Amino acid sequence: MVYTKRRLKKGPIIGIIVIIVIIALIITGVKLYTHFTGNEYKLSKVGYNETEIASLLKMDDKVIDKALNSKYNRHLIPLAKQKYFLWKNYETYNKYIKELAKETNNIDYKEVVNKVNIKRNYEYYTHTEKTDMSKGNAILVNKYYSLPQKYTPSDIVEVSNWHCYGTAQIKKEVYDAFKNMFSAAKKEDITLIINSGYRSYESQKGVYDTYASTGGEEEADAFAARPDFSEHQTGLAIDIITYGASGKTFDTTDAFKWLQKNAHKYGFILRYPKDKEDITGYSYESWHYRYLGKDLATKVKESNLTYDEYYAYYLDGDKNEKGKN
Ligand code: DAL
Ligand code: ZN
Repeated sequence: MVYTKRRLKKGPIIGIIVIIVIIALIITGVKLYTHFTGNEYKLSKVGYNETEIASLLKMDDKVIDKALNSKYNRHLIPLAKQKYFLWKNYETYNKYIKELAKETNNIDYKEVVNKVNIKRNYEYYTHTEKTDMSKGNAILVNKYYSLPQKYTPSDIVEVSNWHCYGTAQIKKEVYDAFKNMFSAAKKEDITLIINSGYRSYESQKGVYDTYASTGGEEEADAFAARPDFSEHQTGLAIDIITYGASGKTFDTTDAFKWLQKNAHKYGFILRYPKDKEDITGYSYESWHYRYLGKDLATKVKESNLTYDEYYAYYLDGDKNEKGKN
């Protein structure tokens, strides 16, 4: 009886053990399969270390795909983490890093991204291209993006003596916006006077050549655009003065302070701000205002970016091409 009892108990125990072993094998198999087919393993095979993999796995799918489908690049993660990173510039960021690496081991990724976005990895007036005229009031004109040859805008109107010193012309839409701004400033006892508006190819050439003949090309390039590269030639830019102050002293005036606070509400931005010379390519011009329209001018002001940077990131090309982490 005792013997039979024992035999009866053994059967289910062996069965349970077999089931447990099978389950354990399945779990291990699934784990191994997941490990070897998972991104973590694949990224380690590409060459990324533990810390890099941990960062990558938190990043956008596109960054992970890039890491998985190209050879190991230690610059990928720090580049893709930058606020203004753009996929369309990825190859150029890497090329620029290679150039910089000849001089330093300390790569400033923020600077790399910001410079390449606005072509500042190249010397001014090199790698120039025609600007995208379809952008209308938002067109970018700087030392890399020119107007069509000898461009003349449409809708240019004469500015009344009330609003300008000497004579000036600007686009009608810009003049309408200026008149609104003029009236609003007047209510606060501020007089805004247009000192220069639209400049033809020839007159811009005249301005540039005058600087060049006295101070040389370098000085001319700091203060004036070469013809076809000036916002004045678009009819969308104005230089503003007030009673008793123009040019370099303009930023000491109440008129300047008023513009700082209010210009965007009428569609204008300060185009060449202080301390941004290496971005815009021009010395600080407290008097030069660019018309963009109210909405865009407000967004640009709120972004705290120069228009060159804003345009590169927000307006140029496909927004889906942006790299976010
Ligand atoms: N002074 C500005 C940069 C121009 O000449 O267009
Ligand atoms: Zn100007």
